[in-house]
Amino acid sequence: MFPSSSSPIVYGLTLFLPLFLLFLLAPQFLPLRYNRQPSLISPQDELDDLRLFNLAISRATATSRGGSPKISHLGTVNPKPKIAFLFLTNSDLIFAPLWQRFFESSSTVGLFNVYIHADPSTPISTPEWSVKANFIPAKTTARASPTLISAARRLLANAIIDDPFNLYFALVSQHCIPLHSFKFVYTSLFGKPSSASKAFLTQRSHTSYIEILSDARYLHKRYTARGFGVMLPEVPFEKFRVGSQFFVLAKRHALLVLKERKLWKKFKLPCLYSDSCFPEEHYFPTLLSMEDPKGSSHFTLMRVNWTDSVNGHPHTYHPPEISPELIHTLRKSASSYSYLFARKFSPDCLKPLMEIAKDVIFRD
Ligand SMILES: *[C@@H]1O[C@H](CO)[C@@H](O)[C@H](O)[C@H]1NC(C)=O
Repeated sequence: MFPSSSSPIVYGLTLFLPLFLLFLLAPQFLPLRYNRQPSLISPQDELDDLRLFNLAISRATATSRGGSPKISHLGTVNPKPKIAFLFLTNSDLIFAPLWQRFFESSSTVGLFNVYIHADPSTPISTPEWSVKANFIPAKTTARASPTLISAARRLLANAIIDDPFNLYFALVSQHCIPLHSFKFVYTSLFGKPSSASKAFLTQRSHTSYIEILSDARYLHKRYTARGFGVMLPEVPFEKFRVGSQFFVLAKRHALLVLKERKLWKKFKLPCLYSDSCFPEEHYFPTLLSMEDPKGSSHFTLMRVNWTDSVNGHPHTYHPPEISPELIHTLRKSASSYSYLFARKFSPDCLKPLMEIAKDVIFRD
């Protein structure tokens, strides 16, 4: 017999125990996608990144004003602005031979650098390039997580530290290909190497080429992927943007991205809903549209085919689709500019692409 005074406790227990058990077990009955992902960014990783970004910022401010390096009449002879190609990959660079031809397609010496962030969890073979490929200290990346933002920022930071004449930063993946010659790409960004590059170095407000959209399907779902109200107050929904993961940033914007702390605090949070979690497609467009809306083109130079996209993946081109006509079609935009790069291509497209490289892709 229970003493009568404890009866309410017993009743209370019998009432709350099932509720408590339900609370405890509920996550196991709910679909997996509702479980908050574990954070893939450890405090140590965060600290390493902060140190790296701060180093890049201090180097840049030591050598420049307004993003461009000072033109020294003593040290550098005839300085030319460079493009830093940032390869973000978690597999071999399957199109390395095509990129090799791209880099060698004209007199490109001293006009570019290459940096690679290769996910350390998969072994990657060094591309057989005559160009120097700088493998930067990399960390694990995963889809539907803020690790892709971190990797892109690491690439920007390393490129800024490595060479003060890196003034444009083109982020690409292993599935991307060039659609034009190097000379065409360089001239599109800087003007002719002979004459206009000096003018470029003395300018301050270079445009970044990044897609920034305020109206897209599922935008609200993506906004609430970390939970309701979580992005507030730093990122109200009206300021939330979407755009392509791959971009060409001017140095001043690369620095802006490395200095940024406020939005990152929110974007680095793991998602509750992994099927609407694409932080890397939101962080950069949202940040740039908040901080410098007129400084970006709002369009991307990377052609992607979203027709019939499956599971957040764009259309992947296969060998039968590769033709000179395809390259010409992919270059064309709805506006006056030409796309410079394209994705996504299956690895077996390398052969047919190499066959039309000289006569089609690198012929402008
Ligand atoms: C885009 O992909 C669809 C299939 O998903 C294809 O039918 C179409 O031809 C592609 N468009 C271009 C311009 O390549």
